[in-house]
Amino acid sequence: MCGIICYIGEQNSIPILLEGLKRLEYRGYDSAGLASINPENGEVLFVKSVGKVGELEKKVKSTDFSGNYGIAHTRWATHGKPTEANAHPHSDCTGKLFLIHNGIIENYEILKKELIKKGHKFVSDTDTEVLAHLIEDNLKDNFEDAVRKSLAMVEGTFGIAAIHKDFPRKIVVARRGSPIIIGIGENEYIAASDVNAFIRYTNRVIYLNDDEMALLNDNELVITDLNLKQIEKKPETIDWQYEADEKEGFKHFMLKEIYEQPRTVENAVRGRLIEGEGISKLGGLEPVLDRILNLKKLTFVSCGTSFYAGLYGKYVFERLTDLDVHVDYASEFRYRNLKLTEEDGVVAISQSGETADTLAALREAKRKGSLVLGLVNVVGSTIAKETHAGVYCHAGPEIGVASTKIFVSQCVILNLIALLIGRRRGLSVFDGMQLVKEIKKLSGNIEKILEKADLIREIAKKYLPYQNFLYIGRHLNFPIAMEGALKLKEISYVHAEGYPAGEMKHGPISLIDEYFPTVAIATNGFTYEKMISNIQEIKARNGKVIAVATEGNDEIKNVVDDVIYVPETIDILQPIVNVIPLQLFAYYFADFKGCDIDKPRNLAKSVTVE
Ligand code: G6P
Repeated sequence: MCGIICYIGEQNSIPILLEGLKRLEYRGYDSAGLASINPENGEVLFVKSVGKVGELEKKVKSTDFSGNYGIAHTRWATHGKPTEANAHPHSDCTGKLFLIHNGIIENYEILKKELIKKGHKFVSDTDTEVLAHLIEDNLKDNFEDAVRKSLAMVEGTFGIAAIHKDFPRKIVVARRGSPIIIGIGENEYIAASDVNAFIRYTNRVIYLNDDEMALLNDNELVITDLNLKQIEKKPETIDWQYEADEKEGFKHFMLKEIYEQPRTVENAVRGRLIEGEGISKLGGLEPVLDRILNLKKLTFVSCGTSFYAGLYGKYVFERLTDLDVHVDYASEFRYRNLKLTEEDGVVAISQSGETADTLAALREAKRKGSLVLGLVNVVGSTIAKETHAGVYCHAGPEIGVASTKIFVSQCVILNLIALLIGRRRGLSVFDGMQLVKEIKKLSGNIEKILEKADLIREIAKKYLPYQNFLYIGRHLNFPIAMEGALKLKEISYVHAEGYPAGEMKHGPISLIDEYFPTVAIATNGFTYEKMISNIQEIKARNGKVIAVATEGNDEIKNVVDDVIYVPETIDILQPIVNVIPLQLFAYYFADFKGCDIDKPRNLAKSVTVE
């Protein structure tokens, strides 16, 4: 969703802001803009464009402007269509103030009416513009004070950055519910909503907490709360490597990320498995391990692909632990009247660590006294900071909006967490050792599937004429059917639904005919025979079936139309192997259709609105 980057220092801000915007592109956006001031001559560059950052770059490059501080933004439309007028930065009536904003000003309509009465002229449909005029209205002789006063009047969430021509060499940033991270370089500060935007320049950072603001000068950083009370904060050094946003020869980031998965699995387990004892070691959970071991109930809360990881986690935990395990959409969990106590644990699963609903769910659980854990990829993200303890995925940045490698990482780590609890609550050392052994083989198994990408590509091509797909699986593979269907619809815009195979007879079977193919996950295991029965039911109605089956199963070829073979592992890990061909199928299908795979329409990587 929306992204913020700002720079103040000795360098020309323009290339740094443009590069930062490009590194924020993956979050999903539909317009972009930039404002920079040259304090030497008072010149201002204020440009906006609809569409890709490349469009903005063309406009910027047609000027020879140079200015060593500025702010820039990528916008994902909420209030008002993606137009230049609605793109950020927003300005005030004087044209001297520039403001960028992530989040939503909920009381903007009331404020706007009052400001219009006072004579303010609005040019956009956005909630953000209200804040720009409000600052103008409150401005006397101190810019940061006007920002502070204005923020006190707004309801909702914000991560903001503002500059003003009459108050040169100053950037004011502030947050409530939408991240702002300040990178500290040599005689320069770079603030952003996402460390990816500036990690190339520095890994020394300060995270703003809610209701904090910072004043960035050339060589001074002053952090205060919203009452201007000064706050001392020490910079943290973050362990987040700069990875060039390069596709390394792959056509899309999504394909690159699918191919990275053998390494993703290795990174997820590195140093976390003790083979001889059949147990895992998760440093991030150690401070609360006693409490974890005494939990009565555990609930996974998450959204999107992370929700399906949680759904898979439920089956894994049921198998490896004696815990009462639940799973819920974060957006639903937060509104339920849950009987949560101190003996409950809630695991927030999130790639970005910023998803608004997941954050709201964890805050609700915390309020009720439960232990709140995080399974997060982005180091230092809000969810990572607000949970009592947690485990990082260590999967590096994921650029493709449709999650692939992080899903696999989450699934692997859920096994490690379950193993840690299970082995302390009755799981045998033998079972633990077997799981560890098979986890270690996972990356090799994934490699074997990647070698078959060409075959999967051909199958995807064959099914291009179809507009609807059903995905079915049972037990541990039910979440994988859901995730496979989600991948296809996210990036190719064809309709796909995932279903537990046993439920097929209670509805979806009425859709089946020669035009409605099914992807059936039918690898070996105790539900295999039942899956074959479901496949037969589909075939009896002329439905086409693509099966994901275990290598060596020659019989299934006689039943289905197409088979993708995968290596066999133990049943609780098999879903992690089975999801790989479904990712590749969705990818190639969307690629043949010519879709914008890394940035599918209407979707955002980090969903920071509720
Ligand atoms: C968005 C993304 C999905 C992601 C979901 C949850 O919908 O497009 O890929 O699975 O948000 O995000 P999170 O960062 O919390 O895992």
